[in-house]
Amino acid sequence: MSDFQKEVADRIVENSQNEALVKSASQFVEAATAPKYCYNFSFLGRPIIQYPQDMVAVQELIYATQPDLIVETGIAHGGSLIMSAAMLELNAACGGNPDAHVVGIDIDIREHNRVEIEKHPMFKRITMFEGSSIDPQIVDQVKKIAEGKERVLVFLDSMHSHDHVLAELEAYANLTTVESYCVVFDTIIEDLPDDIYPGRPWGVGDNAKTAVHEWLKSNDHFEIDKQTENKLLITVCPDGFLKRVR
Ligand SMILES: C[S@@+](CC[C@H](N)C(=O)[O-])C[C@H]1O[C@@H](n2cnc3c(N)ncnc32)[C@H](O)[C@@H]1O
Repeated sequence: MSDFQKEVADRIVENSQNEALVKSASQFVEAATAPKYCYNFSFLGRPIIQYPQDMVAVQELIYATQPDLIVETGIAHGGSLIMSAAMLELNAACGGNPDAHVVGIDIDIREHNRVEIEKHPMFKRITMFEGSSIDPQIVDQVKKIAEGKERVLVFLDSMHSHDHVLAELEAYANLTTVESYCVVFDTIIEDLPDDIYPGRPWGVGDNAKTAVHEWLKSNDHFEIDKQTENKLLITVCPDGFLKRVR
């Protein structure tokens, strides 16, 4: 580790123990949720439903892991899909895999979103499937695409209920290659007030984080990467950055 990297690592630990900083970050996330702060951003022209901090983390992961394939559940307007594809383009420009690709799955790809995604210059690196991410036929198609890929990164950001995320983890997490990541988004739901998402099929006790915790009980080849969330402090993925360690 270089002196600079050690300095950063030490500072991340210090920051994560800074009670005032940690408290103000979590107050920010709680205050920003109901006003839908995370809907205010875009990537290369496509709306993305993410916090800027998580976008930076995703960018770092895509560069660090140099995936041949990224599997994403939850497309919405396509912002995260375009960001992944654009990062693969930049990886290629920096000497990485020129053929790296993204597969996105969404139960409902709205026509206007499909049109915009398909005409985007980054679409050349994207394949989309419409249907439930846990539909066995879709899972099989994604697994075929992943066959033989040396480095695979997985992002789960579709329906955030416990059962659905658990089923997604069972379907896709094992595509993640050793030293790469499966990132589970919106684990933050467990840490926010229960009434903050009115009318949603998830809440405290039934969400992405409860699914991660249950799934990890029988999957010791993944570990929660606390360093990433401690670096971000503002993230919707606490306990959601899962690193495949074996
Ligand atoms: C939070 S949005 C995805 C945001 C996107 N990843 C981004 O960063 O901009 C969740 C998406 O999941 C989709 N979805 C909901 N249930 C699903 C399911 N069973 N299978 C696949 N996608 C689903 C919704 O249609 C919606 O577009």
